[in-house]
Amino acid sequence: MAMPPENSDNKENSDHEESLSLKNGPISSKRLVVGVTRRLPEATFKRLGDLFEIIGNESDAPLSAQELVSLARRVDVLSPTLGDDLNTHFFENAGSRLKMIANFGSGTDHIDIDKAAAAKIVVTNTPSVLSEDAADMAMALILAVPRRLVEGVHSIERGEFSGWSPTWMLGSRVRGKKLGIIGLGRVGQAVARRAKAFGLEINYHNRKPINQHMERELEATYWESLDQMLHRVDIVSVNCPHTPATYHLLSRRRLQKLQPHAYVVNISRSEIIDEEALSDMILEGRLAGAGLDVFKRDLKDINRLMNEPNVVLLPHMASATVESRLEMGERVIINIKMWVDGHPPPDRIIPGLD
Ligand code: DGY
Repeated sequence: MAMPPENSDNKENSDHEESLSLKNGPISSKRLVVGVTRRLPEATFKRLGDLFEIIGNESDAPLSAQELVSLARRVDVLSPTLGDDLNTHFFENAGSRLKMIANFGSGTDHIDIDKAAAAKIVVTNTPSVLSEDAADMAMALILAVPRRLVEGVHSIERGEFSGWSPTWMLGSRVRGKKLGIIGLGRVGQAVARRAKAFGLEINYHNRKPINQHMERELEATYWESLDQMLHRVDIVSVNCPHTPATYHLLSRRRLQKLQPHAYVVNISRSEIIDEEALSDMILEGRLAGAGLDVFKRDLKDINRLMNEPNVVLLPHMASATVESRLEMGERVIINIKMWVDGHPPPDRIIPGLD
């Protein structure tokens, strides 16, 4: 990581802090220093460098807790991404120079938003721009698992295909099945539009119903009770953010509401599902399968599903398109620039709202 020497106590730095504390006016007298924790698309990095002074992480290896703190102490704005744990330790040690966290990514569950707000640090994310690509991946999993797509590929690779057979590789029809979407926000709605086009019936659970116009357009049925929805659907798609309220929302008890022919798809965050329970149920044949773009990094429970034919595991790649990543970079830049110019950044996270 390229880092200038830490100088939090010198005159230059305290002048800088003074100019940054002019909350409503442009901060144009000095160049703003932005710390970037991971390698970003080249175009994003270049554009950031045209506008601001950058301290980047050239290796692309995630920074340790100490390196994150050390970087934060040298910058006015930090642009972290998921995996950078901005927790109590971070905020207690980040110093007073840091004024903004412009997250490269939509999910902000790795940032303690309340601690940031208490330290008067503005936090932004990059919503919307990745929703359609993420929804494509959810739809790909909704199709891939019941239709045994990856299993089929493996059978070719293993030389098991000796010609078409009326009874070989039979999957489960997708059209006409009941999809239950947990979290009908931007990504959830984009999943619903795709699923509707594939002939699935749309059911959803949210804290409250979406507006009636959208509900009608998606022909979506709202379930206030998640338990009741789970009992009824054939495929579940997890599309809500990870918050304290959604941690293990799909608990063992709730997973047991699903019918044995049901599939679970998750492109959101691993924490929303009790993975131990999910693994047990798939291995015991009490669920038909799963498509998971996210799972716990320690692989403790998911390891058991690694070679199961009815499970498709992906390495958190739902938003991994060149276009999404460039647009995420654009949002980071827009948010920083708006804030620097004295305007509220468009993607500001307000504590208490998700
Ligand atoms: C995000 O931006 O939070 C996504 O999970 C990245 O795929």
